[in-house]
This record gives sequence, structure tokens and C-alpha cells, in this order.
Amino acid sequence: MRHLLSTQDLSRGDAIRILDTAEEMAAVGDREVKKLPALRGRTVVNLFFEDSTRTRISFEAAAKRLSADVINFAAKGSSVSKGESLKDTAQTLAAMGADAVVIRHWASGAPHRLASTDWIDAAVINAGDGTHEHPTQALLDAFTMRRHWSRLAGTGSQGADLSGMRVAIAGDVLHSRVARSNVWLLRTLGADVTLVAPPTLLPIGVEQWPCKVSYDMDRTLEQGVDAVMMLRVQGERMNASFFPSTREYSRRWGFDDNRLRSLDTLGMKDTIIMHPGPMNRGLEISSAAADSPRSTVLAQVRNGVSVRMAALYLLLSGDTREPAATPGAGHFAGAAPSTKESI
Ligand code: NCD
Repeated sequence: MRHLLSTQDLSRGDAIRILDTAEEMAAVGDREVKKLPALRGRTVVNLFFEDSTRTRISFEAAAKRLSADVINFAAKGSSVSKGESLKDTAQTLAAMGADAVVIRHWASGAPHRLASTDWIDAAVINAGDGTHEHPTQALLDAFTMRRHWSRLAGTGSQGADLSGMRVAIAGDVLHSRVARSNVWLLRTLGADVTLVAPPTLLPIGVEQWPCKVSYDMDRTLEQGVDAVMMLRVQGERMNASFFPSTREYSRRWGFDDNRLRSLDTLGMKDTIIMHPGPMNRGLEISSAAADSPRSTVLAQVRNGVSVRMAALYLLLSGDTREPAATPGAGHFAGAAPSTKESI
């Protein structure tokens, strides 16, 4: 396996392999000494062109738990703010001997660009590109859901998928790379996905996505859901007014206290409430919902480290025993180290 750029072409087998490896990594996080020697001597660069708290820290913790050396490169305060191009930055990192580059960029497609050129011969992990994709977030969300779903079924999570699980993804879908990556991955894992949003916050072409679309939050809840994923209203990406007022938004689309209560009255005692963070409390999610026993917000953060350990491990451990990419099986496993294959 070579790069982790998208969930769209991740096969079911690839996805399950990452989630299963993440389960093993989670066991390391439960130990007193939270460290494995697996990536000793390897260098992971966190290349962040956009603000991030949890994703950057999570990748740093993941790399360090695998004993890799970590270089944090924030675009603000670097030569990038003096106009250095992605190419020059990549070549500089290559000269420093980076084995993996974790990139977050405001431009959709920047990680693909990095992975498809010969500027740098490192594994590229997409940590969020514009409004396009955020594959490790979707994988940690799936990991969190899988644990919940397996616990309800009374089975172990290893090897399991999300068949039969009903997931609502609600809010600012238009600007959300989290929603895009989740729709593809959840579909691959067999979940039944409904997007819930005002028409102004749905992208053109959404009817071609492998999911249902609803404009009515309450009706979606009434129909039954096992997980509700609330998306942040991404003010920084909005150049126009997409809804009348914040009050109106939270009443119609937010997960407020009334909707939290309605899960009980509707008899959905096992439904979880998710959010990738950072949360706008009082806008897309109320504090009571975010802090309720149903909320998986902190579990998602915790699971993020295990999932990113798994991704780094599978990309960098030099395990080339898998057969070379089989047609239609995605590209996660088994690419020879010299190829520029991506997933
Ligand atoms: C998400 C992101 O950056 O896309 N956050 C994250 O990675 N934890 C979602 C968001 O910013 O709303």
C-alpha cells in the first residue's frame, strides 16, 4: 500500500483491514507504556496548510506511539507564507528524508497532486483537502460506529462491517469533506446513509451519491437511526448567507435538547450522537447533546489515534506481502514501494 488519499476507491477488504489493525493499535493505547518500535528510524512530516488541532495532534501522537520521528510543518510562519510552492516544499521535505507526509491543504486535490508527482517519494496521507475528502476522519468514525454496532450485536468487532446500520449525516454537507469521505466509506461497509440538510447546504449532484437525502431532521429521526453525525457549520468557507439565522438553523437542523429527548420518546435507546469537532455548541449541537451519554465525541478523538497508527503502520511498515493490487480491489494493499499508486 502506498498512499491514503480518499475513501472513494477503498475496497471493503482494505477498509476492514485498516479497522482491524486499528483495533490492535487501540490495545497498545490501553497499556501503561503506549509505544511500539514498529516505525523506529522512519520520519513522518505533518504538513498543515490549514488550521487544525485534533487531526494534527492525533497524527503526531500516532506516529510517536509507533516510534517514528515527527516533524511538524505549519504553513503559517514557514516559507510557504513567502510564496513557496507546494513543489518546492515537497522537494525540501524529500531532501530531509520524509518517509510519510500527512498533508492538510485548503485546495481540494493537493494531496493527490503530491502523490502523483516525482517531487517526493513518500507515502502521502490526506488529512483533509478543501471540501473534498478526509479519509482518516471517516475511518475513525467507522471504527467508532463498528465498536458500538458490534457491542449491540454482542459480537467482536474484528472483521465486522456496518451492514444494517442506519446513519444520518446532518448539517453543512456542502462544505464538508468529512461527509464526503463518510458517505463513500459507510456505503462500502454496508451502512444505510441519509444526508439531512437544508437544500442550500447540499452540493450539486448529491442525488448521484450512494445515499438518501432528506430536508427534514425530525422525520429522519422518526424513521429510525442508529447514529446521527452532526457536521460543523463551516463559517470560514461560506461566502454567502446559506440560512436565515443561527436561531432558525439550530431549530430546524441542529441536534438540540428537544431532539435529544425525542430519541428517548421514540424508543431509540442505543442511538449515538457523533461530531468530528470542533463543535459550534448551541448551533449544530446543543451542550446537553454533546455531553450526553449518547455522545461519542471524545471516543472519536481517542479512536482517531488508533486509526492513524493503523494507517501509518500499514503504509510504512514495508509489508509488501500482499498481492499486487488486484483489479477492482482498491489500491490500499500491496503496491510495490516504487509505484505511485494511491487509494
Ligand atoms: C473536520 C475537518 O477539518 O474537516 N475536523 C476535523 O478534522 N476534526 C471537520 C470540521 O472542521 O468541521
